[in-house]
Amino acid sequence: MYFFIALHIFTNLRASREKSKFICYSEAKVKPREAGTYEFFLSLRPQKPQRLPPNNTMEILDILKEVEHPAKGDRNIVELGMVDQARMDGNKVVVVLAFPKHRDPLAEYLIGSCKAALIRHLGKGVEILVETIVKEEPKPKKAGLNLGTEEVENIRHIIGVASGKGGVGKSTVAVNLAVALARLGYKVGLADADVYGPSVPKMTQTEGASPEAWQELKENGEEGKEIILPIEKYGVKWMSIGYFAPPEQALIWRGPMACNALKQMILQVRWGELDFLLIDMPPGTGDIHLSLAHDIPMQGAIIVSTPQDIALADVEKGVNMFLNESINKPVYGLVENMAWFTPAELPDHKYYIFGKDGGKKMAEKYGLPLLGQIPLIQSIREGADQGEPAALSDEGAGAYYLDLARTLAGQVG
Ligand SMILES: Nc1ncnc2c1ncn2[C@@H]1O[C@H](COP(=O)(O)OP(=O)(O)O)[C@@H](O)[C@H]1O
Ligand SMILES: [Mg+2]
Repeated sequence: MYFFIALHIFTNLRASREKSKFICYSEAKVKPREAGTYEFFLSLRPQKPQRLPPNNTMEILDILKEVEHPAKGDRNIVELGMVDQARMDGNKVVVVLAFPKHRDPLAEYLIGSCKAALIRHLGKGVEILVETIVKEEPKPKKAGLNLGTEEVENIRHIIGVASGKGGVGKSTVAVNLAVALARLGYKVGLADADVYGPSVPKMTQTEGASPEAWQELKENGEEGKEIILPIEKYGVKWMSIGYFAPPEQALIWRGPMACNALKQMILQVRWGELDFLLIDMPPGTGDIHLSLAHDIPMQGAIIVSTPQDIALADVEKGVNMFLNESINKPVYGLVENMAWFTPAELPDHKYYIFGKDGGKKMAEKYGLPLLGQIPLIQSIREGADQGEPAALSDEGAGAYYLDLARTLAGQVG
């Protein structure tokens, strides 16, 4: 009989012990215990009711919003971006507060306030660890310079069209080359970076066009950068400072202002997917070129010159600028513009008005390919003035630009 009573008590005790183990494990706060009479009876004590700890960062952050920063107009530490981490680690809440400098006089006060808020909500059973790190405040970004390269990330080749000297036909080559590449089936854009003399609007008869622009919204609701849509015509996407400022105004722009405007003309434009983005660069080899080459992921350049000695002397500077260590971009080749003149009434005659083969010789000197020789043709000048680029036609002048486009495409791959 005693034996059965003892057996009954023993079986019940085992059942309770299993149950108690379950209780122990189910409460994150209490460590699992080894089986043992003493431990067993302890675990049977009624557990002190407490609120369940938060299981995600958002809940902890909600609690921390109660902690106001006394020196910042009582804004809370979450809103001030001071909470670098907030996580639940088993039974432990870990909060990391970021301070802009070592030994912040308010650090201790804020750590205490965080602990107090967490204990108020979670009870004393949860272990609370509040740590600090030093994170320097990001320096305020200068307007216009905080442009990322997202808008040009889907462009295969960004190529500068440069010249040592003005007036050698750089813009005419750039515009016609863009049209010719588009006619070969490539997706093409052209950014007119010649802030001192934007000629793309006139050369494409898009003067007066006003590109659509809007302010982008970031995911967190903050205002992002302004996005500009290029003007599309002749199968090419065009962008020019000339769409925003009359040429006489652009002329008075100086240094940094011009640089910023230029970067915007390229990095704020929604180009989409392109095979080629040509950049009609300002003439010369100044700061603007250096800044452009550094801030825009330009792949390389082509250089336009007439065969005249005086123009070629400057081309040398242009080539050296790109090859120089600080820019270090390949020059894909030279385009000799106004290479000769052939009057309509004497189609077999070539007059070398600016000298013969100057560009060719320069290309040989630098071991660069001569991408093309384009003669001085009246229809090229007329096309430029009327806004109908010569490259739109297969005949006459158009053929030279189509050849040039094929050679360049072959050159850059
Ligand atoms: N191959 C050419 N044949 C005839 N006229 C040309 C040719 N290339 C350029 N021009 C003309 O020369 C002038 C200067 O050309 P432009 O492209 O504006 O030079 P840049 O951009 O180097 O200052 C323009 O009037 C243009 O129409
Ligand atoms: Mg020009």
